[in-house]
Amino acid sequence: MEKTAGILILDDEENILETLKRLFFKETFSIFTTTNYQEALEALKKEEIKVVISDQRMPEITGVEFLKKVKLECPDAVRILMTGHADIRAAEDAINVGEVYRFINKPWNKEDFKGAVCQAVDHYDLVIQNRNLFEETRTKNEELEVLNRKLRDMYEVQKEFTSTVSHELRTPLASMKVTVDLVLSGEPGELNEDQTRFLMKTKNNVDRLTRLINDILDLTKLESGKTQPDISINDLTQTINEVVEIQELAAKEKGLYLRNEIEKRVVNIPFDVDKMHQVLSNLISNAIKFTETGGITVSCINCEKDNCVKISIRDTGQGIKQEDMGKLFQKFQQLGDPRKHIGGTGLGLAICKEIIQCHGGKIWVESEINKGSCFHFILPVQERREG
Ligand SMILES: Nc1ncnc2c1ncn2[C@@H]1O[C@H](COP(=O)(O)OP(=O)(O)OP(=O)(O)O)[C@@H](O)[C@H]1O
Ligand SMILES: [Mg+2]
Repeated sequence: MEKTAGILILDDEENILETLKRLFFKETFSIFTTTNYQEALEALKKEEIKVVISDQRMPEITGVEFLKKVKLECPDAVRILMTGHADIRAAEDAINVGEVYRFINKPWNKEDFKGAVCQAVDHYDLVIQNRNLFEETRTKNEELEVLNRKLRDMYEVQKEFTSTVSHELRTPLASMKVTVDLVLSGEPGELNEDQTRFLMKTKNNVDRLTRLINDILDLTKLESGKTQPDISINDLTQTINEVVEIQELAAKEKGLYLRNEIEKRVVNIPFDVDKMHQVLSNLISNAIKFTETGGITVSCINCEKDNCVKISIRDTGQGIKQEDMGKLFQKFQQLGDPRKHIGGTGLGLAICKEIIQCHGGKIWVESEINKGSCFHFILPVQERREG
């Protein structure tokens, strides 16, 4: 049988060492016995020893003194002292100052002795295992930290790049829009039907690109904290009513109802009116876009218990698959039927999430496939200040 790292026993009586050798003969760990403490210390340097057992009374050195040296040489080894009644006090003192793990009284019972040593071996294994795990976690943590730092740096570069490029694109696009609008107005000269059709196509694409660039810029600014919402106490009921009114036509065109259910008790709360317009417009236009029959209900309630206001946009549309829910608020995520994505870029919900978070709120969704979705968000009644 291949024996693993083992135990070392020091005693000045050969017959005791012989008895102990026999006692541990069948165990999986190796056993090293000696009457010479110098030899014992040498052995510690050469082999992996899990448990060191020493007699207390020996001519050259006391057990406590020897175990002190063992602690210096091999701090992980579990140290056990064998004592007679007269030495119990010394053993207790040694335990209290951490020189010895435990003591075994002489004369000992074989089974108890064996049990104590096996327990000490397990203790050693556990300590080493814990340390290895700790080390492994620490190394992994360090690696993660380095990676995180790299990612953060890369993300900063990417944000800067996106922001600069988007900004640079906006100027020529604005001038294209002015030119196309001018030509379409007929001022520079009459257009025929084909020319108008082609120019309208160009106009739509210019508008789409402008929307996309504005969304990207909005999002990068929000993410980097460059845009601070202009938060002041406002009337949320009025803002919801305004957005619903604007969206009513789009709902009507699809034969959908668009209802408002705002509790009377809803109090004025701190928010940025323009940004809240943006959130509500995107959530309601999404609801219209992804619903074919039935309609949309916008509700708003006061949650006194949580000191917040909860706004919900419920639709009776196609719903969202369970596995897609986690991706919804990420950038450029467009799920479900690709035919519904015309004109969209998949940035709307990511922007909503950033805006709600800047307000100290939270946004989430509940949905059932083919039954409909409900997007909820909460806004705190009192402005949360940092620090
Ligand atoms: N009410 C809804 N019902 C079903 N699916 C939805 C609903 N709202 C959003 N989704 C899904 O989430 C995706 C992301 O929505 P988001 O508003 O971010 O992007 P978008 O509407 O496609 O484009 P954009 O808002 O940028 O114009 C949508 O493409 C759609 O797949
Ligand atoms: Mg959208």
